[in-house]
Amino acid sequence: MAKKLLVLCMAALMAVAALVAGCGGDQQKAAEGEKVLKVGVNADFAPFEFQDENGKEYQGFDMDLIRAVGEEMGYKVEINNLNFDGLIPALEAGNIDVCISGMTINEERKQKVNFSDPYYKSGLSIIVAKDNDYIKKFEDLQGKKVAVQIGTTSAAEVKKIKDVDVKEFNSSADTFMELRAKGVDAVVNDRPVNDYYIMKSGETNVKALPDLLTSEDYGIAVSKKNEELLKEINTALKKLHENGKYDEIFTKWFGTTSK
Ligand code: ARG
Repeated sequence: MAKKLLVLCMAALMAVAALVAGCGGDQQKAAEGEKVLKVGVNADFAPFEFQDENGKEYQGFDMDLIRAVGEEMGYKVEINNLNFDGLIPALEAGNIDVCISGMTINEERKQKVNFSDPYYKSGLSIIVAKDNDYIKKFEDLQGKKVAVQIGTTSAAEVKKIKDVDVKEFNSSADTFMELRAKGVDAVVNDRPVNDYYIMKSGETNVKALPDLLTSEDYGIAVSKKNEELLKEINTALKKLHENGKYDEIFTKWFGTTSK
């Protein structure tokens, strides 16, 4: 009798436990499903953020990463396409919650916004016409015409070169176009973006130089007013590193693992 009662009690307990676990999970999901994360990007920076041929879907390493981060945090991700130099002002104004845009963590930006833990190691490289034999490294840009994207680390670095004629454009696509049109001697841009352009565009008249100017870390930027969100993002990033999702996304876009 006592044994029977015990078995019955345990069965009842287990049923209640299952119910609580099930309910809790579902309720949480439904509530979280309504939270929206407004993400600012400058979607002209393949393979990090760009639009498919129809100009609809946002794709790229950053896009997959932020969607995975959002999922981890229980947010629906909403992408807003802005000019690169408008991203930090949009964060400061509260028009977007976060920005992921191959954005380099640096002191100047850290005065205005907070950055997540670094999520990608990058640097700057040069692209020139294939038959260019007078530019081999950064010092050779002295006195030359160089195209860069407005508001980027490339723009800042190139401006440090003596007598350089810097031409600033709204997107990296525009800088490549200017090089093709022979309006400039070189383009300075983030190395993975330069490499991807050469690989994907079928452009055979240009080459990327092996000389790397800087070592830069990309971070997700968050308003200084939103410390809590920053913590959530870092926790999510850590989780994605642990569960293999980060490596999966990395391999999808770069063909190798991050290690
Ligand atoms: N890493 C560079 C910077 O932070 C360039 C980033 C440009 N990103 C973009 N989506 N256009 O300045």
